[in-house]
Amino acid sequence: MTDRELLNMAKNASEQAYAPYSRFLVGAALECADGTVFTGCNVENGALGATMCAERVALFKAVSEGQKDFIRIAIYAEGDDYCMPCGTCRQVLREFSTDMEVLCARASGGYVSYRLSELLPHAFTFGNF
Ligand code: THU
Repeated sequence: MTDRELLNMAKNASEQAYAPYSRFLVGAALECADGTVFTGCNVENGALGATMCAERVALFKAVSEGQKDFIRIAIYAEGDDYCMPCGTCRQVLREFSTDMEVLCARASGGYVSYRLSELLPHAFTFGNF
């Protein structure tokens, strides 16, 4: 799967976002080692703290289907800036991958690529306790 294909899946997933409060529609597409892709969108809640990000929806869908080995995640939101994963999503992704590739896209179609270790260096992990 090309970066562009994965990014398109993230963009399509953003169309399912439930974001009546922020109106910020986010989509994510998570590629597993076996080539399977799980998508997610943000799902907001009137109790704002109960909102769930697109990345974690995709990850939790994947883990709940037996996947734990991840290669790449693409994140898309309509906006001028690249859509970066929030701190909580970085931590949750890090639970399953030291160094997956993270593609962050913006509305114009451009994207930037990072390693998870760049986005969350010196992470707190199981080994720390
Ligand atoms: N959001 C995501 O889904 N992923 C991100 O990486 C950043 C933020 C969502 C959460 C909330 O629904 C909205 O974007 C505004 O924060």
